[in-house]
Amino acid sequence: MSSYLDLTIEGAPPAPSCINDSKPVTVPFVRAQKGKEKLTMLTAYDYPTARLLDESGIDMLLIGDSVATVLYGEDNTLAVTMEDMLRHVKAVSRGTRRALVIADMPFMSYQVSIEQALTNAGRLLKEAGAHAIKLEGGEEMADTIRALTRIGIPVVAHIGLTPQSIRAEGAYRMYGKSPEEQQMLLDAARAVERAGAFCVVLECVKEGVARDITKALEIPTIGIGSGTSCDGQVLVTQDLVGLTLGKVPKFVMPVASLKDDLRQAVQTYISRTKSIPAQATMEKMEIKPHASSH
Ligand code: KIV
Repeated sequence: MSSYLDLTIEGAPPAPSCINDSKPVTVPFVRAQKGKEKLTMLTAYDYPTARLLDESGIDMLLIGDSVATVLYGEDNTLAVTMEDMLRHVKAVSRGTRRALVIADMPFMSYQVSIEQALTNAGRLLKEAGAHAIKLEGGEEMADTIRALTRIGIPVVAHIGLTPQSIRAEGAYRMYGKSPEEQQMLLDAARAVERAGAFCVVLECVKEGVARDITKALEIPTIGIGSGTSCDGQVLVTQDLVGLTLGKVPKFVMPVASLKDDLRQAVQTYISRTKSIPAQATMEKMEIKPHASSH
């Protein structure tokens, strides 16, 4: 097997097979987990993060359009393009051996027509290596989901808080407070299941409603800010590991504070570098420069 050094000429090294050699996660596997072991999903936008999460045993990696807010400093997810997604999905696919790689469809890459949705979803699988796509919406997306699944493109649906609707909704909020909205959510979940989605993300759906939807569906529900009854959970990795600069949603329980570790590491580097006397000082003191510790 080639060493990492050999491979740096051509590109990034492949993920080592020895660390995580269990079977790759497939769409049928995800479906079959309903009511069994909880499913885990985290976001990844780049090669090193994908490798680290995959090697740690995550079931699904989502290249979310949250890349806009998390990596690009945008206020919302609307500006993400197909080209942005293709680039990030390619990087994540390269770093993944076991996890199911799910690519978010950017705003206005699937709403114009079914033909547009098929073309763009196809690009994410064919050019970038995604295993499945995710799109936002319920009943109104049923025909699109049906068309995608009919040609072999697996679909994750996403209902509740759908960030691509921020302009219509005005703000991010919890869903399912009123009986009407609870019924709408249940109808939306049933519609995407009937249309062929193999799982559905429930974002910021009231706990009891998420529980009812989870019971009512045969496909797994993946919750974010929707309580613990869902068949799995998804989070933005930066929120989980303490790398988020802005506000972290209340429902996240960070498990690390990598932001502080990073600041500390940079400060150590700065002090170490600044502690080396400048050339002029060394000459004045007749000190011979020695090997750098960098
Ligand atoms: O874009 C994203 O990261 C998402 C998850 C938060 C579900 O859609």
